[in-house]
Amino acid sequence: MSGIVVVGSANIDQVFRVDRIPSPGETVLSHGVSTALGGKGQNQAVAAARAGVETTFIGAVGADSFGEMVRSGLSDDAIGVAQLRTSVKPTGTALIAVDGTGENTIIVEPGANSEVAALTSADVEAISAASALVMQLEIPLATVVEAAGIAQAVGTRVILNAAPIQELPQGLLDTLDVLIVNEHEAAELARYNGLAPELDGLGERLLALVPTVIVTLGSKGASLHRAGSEEVVVPAHRVTAVDATGAGDTFCGAFAAGIVEGMLADDALRFAVAAASISVESHGAVPSIPLRAAIETRAKESGNLITD
Ligand code: RIB
Ligand code: NA
Repeated sequence: MSGIVVVGSANIDQVFRVDRIPSPGETVLSHGVSTALGGKGQNQAVAAARAGVETTFIGAVGADSFGEMVRSGLSDDAIGVAQLRTSVKPTGTALIAVDGTGENTIIVEPGANSEVAALTSADVEAISAASALVMQLEIPLATVVEAAGIAQAVGTRVILNAAPIQELPQGLLDTLDVLIVNEHEAAELARYNGLAPELDGLGERLLALVPTVIVTLGSKGASLHRAGSEEVVVPAHRVTAVDATGAGDTFCGAFAAGIVEGMLADDALRFAVAAASISVESHGAVPSIPLRAAIETRAKESGNLITD
């Protein structure tokens, strides 16, 4: 088994730079807009590939120019697109506002992403041959459940980034090896499952649901929780944040890549925090995802040494 399969979303992001995110009823002027490749699935696939691991993407785009941009972008990163479907719906789009501190708000129109349904025998083969399956929640939940079940049955590791958060069926939770959530998602998931949602000790409490839990903490880094081990916290690097769009996705893809190539979970965590820290230093999701050499340099600079 080798490589990573990502089953997920691909979007074209329209990113507006604003001083402040507008409140309801308010109009603000933007300082510029750019169009960039995004979508949590595509971002995570690109992050895994740029981190140096063979990656396949299973998703859907429309028969439109945005779909062509996604297809050629994935190919430029040497990501397998044999199972990328072309749907009658338009390519997914996201409307993103990024403020002066790099924080954002995102509205996603799923479009073709809602058509990533019924897995084909080629999809099943790809998932079975992979070391890890990486997913998010911007495609139909039924597809996520199906893919996770296939992976679990053949011993492919299942890594779920539960974003955007929704209630997850027990049957899906039971198939997960690794759950990656931010603090907001962690609290929501705790609520859905009758666990206390307070931030203190949250990652440890989520171990009742999944054997390995990672909570991403934005500018504070990330924490790793495993049953029977001490929690590990990797602080974030000090950077000048320009645009945090896709930072969580960069983290997920880089973490999966580290695990697949045999890094210890702690080292994969450091590697992923370094990758995410680079991604916030420039604009856009896919355009800001770093290559492996840059990730290693960043991890070393900060003393977050990668040991293997
Ligand atoms: O996680 C960031 C991503 O969320 C953006 O690229 C946007 O497309 C949405 O999917
Ligand atoms: Na960025």
